[in-house]
Amino acid sequence: MTGTVDDAIHAVSVIATKRGGQALGDAQIAWMVDGYTHGEVAPEQMSALLMAIYLRGMNRQEIASWTHAMIDSGRRMDLSGLRRDGRPLVTVDKHSTGGVGDKITLPLTPLVASFGVAVPQLSGRGLGHTGGTLDKLESIPGWRAEVGIDDMIAQLERVGAVICAAGADLAPADRKLYALRDVTGTVESIPLLASSIMSKKIAEGTGALVLDVKTGSGAFLPDEDDARELASTMVELGHDAGVDTRAVITDMSTPLGRAVGNAVEVAESVEVLAGGGPSDVVELTLALAREMLDAAGLPDTDPASHLADGRAMDSWRSMIAAQGGDPDAPLPVARHRDDVSADRDGVVTGMDARSVGDAAWRLGGGRSKPGEAVAAEAGVIIHAKPGDRVRAGQPLFTLHTRDESRLAGARACLDAAVTIDDPAGDVGAHSRPLIVDHVRFTP
Ligand code: URA
Repeated sequence: MTGTVDDAIHAVSVIATKRGGQALGDAQIAWMVDGYTHGEVAPEQMSALLMAIYLRGMNRQEIASWTHAMIDSGRRMDLSGLRRDGRPLVTVDKHSTGGVGDKITLPLTPLVASFGVAVPQLSGRGLGHTGGTLDKLESIPGWRAEVGIDDMIAQLERVGAVICAAGADLAPADRKLYALRDVTGTVESIPLLASSIMSKKIAEGTGALVLDVKTGSGAFLPDEDDARELASTMVELGHDAGVDTRAVITDMSTPLGRAVGNAVEVAESVEVLAGGGPSDVVELTLALAREMLDAAGLPDTDPASHLADGRAMDSWRSMIAAQGGDPDAPLPVARHRDDVSADRDGVVTGMDARSVGDAAWRLGGGRSKPGEAVAAEAGVIIHAKPGDRVRAGQPLFTLHTRDESRLAGARACLDAAVTIDDPAGDVGAHSRPLIVDHVRFTP
């Protein structure tokens, strides 16, 4: 392929096909994705195609073809040879579509590994209002996100758990396309979300995959029907690629747990591994662990037992130490703290996840462009959740930051984040179920 006028005309015809609402062929998709990855299709042409896909959608064949073009843009890993004590290791991964306070990967990965399953978690960094697993873990002194493939395999065989950055050669087309989607308003598209997530998971070589598909105000796709369609699209893509894939649809209208940020989320995850922690974080960790253990051929296993007896914590400590981290080192603490308080007596009936995520981001917890440094100690601690009774003046949130000038912006994000109603009726009725549904492949 060359960057000639002919190629530009070819790209234009692909864009026009999708703009007109017709399906793209496999060859057209492979040509565009390969051309964009290698700099031969211009960003403005790919932007136009992404917007046409956003508006017109794609059928299942197109989504599969787009996913495979992204997988083929890089290396496909093979984890089928993992062994411990001479016996093959089963691999199961989990992926969340992203949410506020979603630290579940941190307790879940060592918990599932403590049952003898290998959990390869190639994770990302936060962008916008959702946090990134690697940013959170980097608040542990010494911990390294970059792990080479040989070290990753050795760690999976020895410890069973690894959470690390995906190498640059894993679906590089997705890396470029994701950055472009982020600045062209085309992130929230089911075909583009499904292919982005599944290209990386299939290329990673996991044997099985459990997807946590979020719905509610803090999710990329707030509408529940959209979340269901995204889930079933990804489950089919995984199945067709030979990966046992299932999804759990979970509520993200309220932040998960009581900590949103980086070090504060690590601290909350350690509480869960120690047998405590907020009930919603524990509930989701256990629900996803059950799915992962079932996919690994260990049905009817009770993951709660390893939170109670310390085996999940031992697995966490080994995982952190294997990547240079000191699990006993104190976590960074914010220099400035400020409370946001209730303005009336009543019952909390709503807490907008998106607003809390934005506040944590403004406190320095997230980045506005790739490569920016994040502040490990920045975050929000939540003191009241939906269903709780509060009194006027009682703290709803504590803001943590190293930079006092960030407090006002964060407070503004939280102005309308919480709904407090008169304390009539059943207080408990205001909290929504966390686990909305389970989605499995149906032929
Ligand atoms: N996570 C991904 O990997 N891709 C997306 O498009 C959105 C979230």
